Amino acid sequence: MRHLMSPLDFSVEELDKLLDLANDIEKNPEKYAHRCAGKKLATLFYEPSTRTRLSFEAAMLNLGGSVLGFSSADSSSAAKGESVADTIQIISCYADICAMRHPKEGAPLIASMKSRIPVINAGDGGHQHPTQTLTDLLTIRSLKGRLGNFTIGLCGDLKFGRTVHSLIQALIRYPDIQFVLISPEELRIPDSIRDDVLRRNHQQFREVVRLEEALPELDLLYMTRVQRERFFNEEDYVRMKDFYILDKEKLKLAGPDMMILHPLPRVNEISVEVDDDPRAAYFRQAQYGVYVRMALILTLLGLEGTVC
Ligand code: NCD
Repeated sequence: MRHLMSPLDFSVEELDKLLDLANDIEKNPEKYAHRCAGKKLATLFYEPSTRTRLSFEAAMLNLGGSVLGFSSADSSSAAKGESVADTIQIISCYADICAMRHPKEGAPLIASMKSRIPVINAGDGGHQHPTQTLTDLLTIRSLKGRLGNFTIGLCGDLKFGRTVHSLIQALIRYPDIQFVLISPEELRIPDSIRDDVLRRNHQQFREVVRLEEALPELDLLYMTRVQRERFFNEEDYVRMKDFYILDKEKLKLAGPDMMILHPLPRVNEISVEVDDDPRAAYFRQAQYGVYVRMALILTLLGLEGTVC
């Protein structure tokens, strides 16, 4: 039995297969419409979510399976003091696979140790968000035509943004990627990523504060919101929240093919006027999230079959 805790749980070859499967699902959805008939997905969400939870549920429904779960800690027995380890043993009796989001780093890992069904980490605190990374990789590969040989700017809350942490870990395994880490001083990437991931792997990267300085050289811009829920005080959040706002004027500094990604939800960091720009790919990215989660569910359940 396999779980997904980090993007590194799959080798590059396995990821290639998973992304191929997702592309095949996109082209031939009817081929997969009943693959999970009789199977159940449980979504255990102890933290707010729109895209991740609903795209998991849509993915399972598209595969002919069914879904059950809860969308806040308050509406589960966590509110009565039940541990994640106990909850997962119960869910193992009710479902065939589960996706868990939790504010505590490592909670899905603890669950996986007690689980009798595959557990997918759907975001644990400021740590990891591997299925967003699968979504990002599928979007980049599908729209840019390659994974590797580009300069990517990651901009915003690099300290608490788990999507950025997972994406960097995944991307360092591909060739010729330059990272430009764009953040205010207070929200710089944690040492665990700078030293243990980027430096240890002799990866090319630089850290800058001004988005304007980085824009002209980027092939991809990955914007993120300031993670309000992880701040210790509201004052700091208010000071940081509008540090970056990508608007039409700033976009003039970027190349004609620079792709703009964002895991969403967006707050103010991309103004809505950018949505019509052909370089804006964030809504298409959310659609890719469904295909890749379908591919992931099939793979973890051993139902992927052959991709033609
Ligand atoms: C992200 C998350 O939950 O980390 N959202 C998502 O799953 N698409 C990004 C965020 O909340 O800022």
